[in-house]
Amino acid sequence: MLNELKISSKYSPDAQAVAYHGDCLQLLRSIPENSVSLVVTSPPYNIGKEYEKRQAVQAYIDWQESVIQECHRTLANDGSICWQVGNYVNNGSILPIDILLHPIFDRLGMKMRNRIIWHFEHGLHCSQRLSGRYEVIMWYTKTEDYFFNLDPIRVPQKYPGKKYFKGPKAGQHSCNPLGKNPGDVWVFPNVKSNHVEKTGHPCQFPIELVERLVLSLTEPGELVVDPFMGAGTSQAAAILNGRRTAGAEMVSEYYQTACERIQQAATGTLRVRPRNTPVFDPKYAGKSLLSAPWLTPSENSRDLFAS
Ligand SMILES: C[S@@+](CC[C@H](N)C(=O)[O-])C[C@H]1O[C@@H](n2cnc3c(N)ncnc32)[C@H](O)[C@@H]1O
Repeated sequence: MLNELKISSKYSPDAQAVAYHGDCLQLLRSIPENSVSLVVTSPPYNIGKEYEKRQAVQAYIDWQESVIQECHRTLANDGSICWQVGNYVNNGSILPIDILLHPIFDRLGMKMRNRIIWHFEHGLHCSQRLSGRYEVIMWYTKTEDYFFNLDPIRVPQKYPGKKYFKGPKAGQHSCNPLGKNPGDVWVFPNVKSNHVEKTGHPCQFPIELVERLVLSLTEPGELVVDPFMGAGTSQAAAILNGRRTAGAEMVSEYYQTACERIQQAATGTLRVRPRNTPVFDPKYAGKSLLSAPWLTPSENSRDLFAS
C-alpha cells in the first residue's frame, strides 16, 4: 500500500494535490502565471445536465472565454491546454462546441496542434439524425516551443515484422520497436454503468484518455490543472503518473468523489481500466446475444459483418 496524500483545499506551490470546492475562476486566480504545464478538462456543454443551467449560447461562450483566459495566464510557456468537448444541442440542431470555442484560443495566440477524435460505441440513439459516437479534444500550445514526448504513449506496431526491402537498410526491421504514434483518432469505451471507473458522476471521461495527455505533454513533478474536475479523473491520472495536480468542483457530491479517487490513486486502490486493453468485442466474449431471432441458423452462423 502506498502513502496517503494530503489534499490541499486551496492552491499551494508545494501541494501534490489541490482540490478546491467552489468556482474554478477562484482557484485559477490563485495560481501564479507560467506555473501550469497542462490544463486538461471537459467543461459543461450547456445542455442542461444536473450540474449546469442552460444559458444563451453567447453567454456560455463568454463564460468559457473568461475561464480559458485564466488558464492561459497560468500556463507555462512550453505548456498545453486540452479542452475536451462534444455538441451543444438545441431542438435537435447541433452546434459542435469546438467550433464555438476555437476563436477564443485563436485570439489568445494559441496554436492548435491536434483536434483529436475520441470515438466510442455507446450513447443516445437518435431517430432524426445519426447517433453521436465521437467527441473531440482540442489541443493548443501557448508557444512554438512546447513540450511533447511521443515515446510514453506509443502503441504496438501493426506489422512489427516488416523490413526494408531495398536501399542501405534492406533486411532490417523498418518500424520503431518502441511502437507507433497513436494518431489523432482514439478509441476508448465511454464511462457507462458497467465501466470499472464509473462513479455517481454522469459524465466522466476515461482515465486512459487523460493519461495519454499527461504522459506526452508533461514531465514527472509538473502541475496538471482541471478547472472542471467532476469526479477527479484528471487528478487521478496525474497522481497515478507522478505529476502534481489542482482542480475545482462546485457540486459537493462530485467534490467528495474526486477527493476519494485522488486518495485511491495515491494509495494504489483506484479502479482503473488498464491502458491498451482492447475494446470489448462480443464475438470473442461468448455468443449468447449474437444470434438474430429473425435469421435462420445458417444465416446466423455466417459472419455477416466480416470486412
Ligand atoms: C463534464 S463535467 C467534468 C467531468 C470530469 N471530466 C470527470 O471525468 O469526472 C463538468 C463538471 O464541472 C463542474 N462545474 C460546473 N461549473 C463549474 C465551475 N464554475 N467551477 C467548477 N466546477 C464547475 C460540474 O459540476 C461538473 O462536475
